[in-house]
Amino acid sequence: MKLTFIGAGNMAEAIIAGTHERYEVEVVARDEKKLELLKSKYNITTIKLDDNFDIEGKNLLLCVKPYALDDIAKKFIGSAKTLLSVLAGSSLETLRTAVTAEHYVRVMPNLAAAYGKSMSTLCGDEAFKKEAIDICESFGMALWLGSEKEIDIATGVAGSGPAFLALVAEALSDGAVKEGLKREDANVLVRGLFEGFAPLLNASHPALLKDAVMSPGGTTAAGYSALEEGKVRDGFIKAVTKAYQRAKGNG
Ligand SMILES: NC(=O)c1ccc[n+]([C@@H]2O[C@H](COP(=O)([O-])OP(=O)(O)OC[C@H]3O[C@@H](n4cnc5c(N)ncnc54)[C@H](OP(=O)(O)O)[C@@H]3O)[C@@H](O)[C@H]2O)c1
Repeated sequence: MKLTFIGAGNMAEAIIAGTHERYEVEVVARDEKKLELLKSKYNITTIKLDDNFDIEGKNLLLCVKPYALDDIAKKFIGSAKTLLSVLAGSSLETLRTAVTAEHYVRVMPNLAAAYGKSMSTLCGDEAFKKEAIDICESFGMALWLGSEKEIDIATGVAGSGPAFLALVAEALSDGAVKEGLKREDANVLVRGLFEGFAPLLNASHPALLKDAVMSPGGTTAAGYSALEEGKVRDGFIKAVTKAYQRAKGNG
């Protein structure tokens, strides 16, 4: 199967890194310098995006910003076979209106795609479900959801999640530095913590994990109550709500 990426930005490159060995890949974009870089790094075909780009029969992977959709769509002629869109908040209806294709699927990946570790969610035409999941599993894990509402919610967790967890990582490091640890040592600690946390979370429910670490009157209990005082839990719940509202607002 040949994949035609439209756009050559951060997300396109992250997905190309995972897919280029399993699929034939071509990238279509307007920035020739970026295309040159991608070509030399991944040994793939690159095409400068011009007017009348023929999408007939192609499997498109749309990786531009949502506001650029109409601009890009005007440059297309013909009808694509499939359209897989990473555009946050652009609904299936918006995609169908803008680009002609047989089947449409929305996917919400995250930047961990660059390391083959994206947590991607998908929804759309069932006829393209299996192939779309296969494509997404080439750059991480994939979860098919039953509705666009769910994918917009998932955007606020897995799509935006790396930025939210980056805040946690940076804050923990800042706390350690505040108490006198060297910054580079604090950063090593935090990286190791995240590395070890993934298998723990895979093996256990978060509430049980917390209970296993928190002993009566101990250090974790003292720190945990400070997090609750700072309304950290409430802050994260609101962050997902805000991200969801923004995601559904774009469509
Ligand atoms: N970054 C993430 O973590 C993440 C996660 C999930 C989903 N997404 C989705 O991924 C999509 C791309 O995000 P990104 O982070 O990869 O953005 P990006 O790095 O800014 O890349 C955007 C790409 O779109 C191209 N583009 C923008 N406007 C254009 C236009 N009018 N005509 C032609 N090309 C145009 C850009 O070309 P130039 O380089 O020439 O400007 C660039 O190749 C977004 O829709 C976003 O919702 C991103």
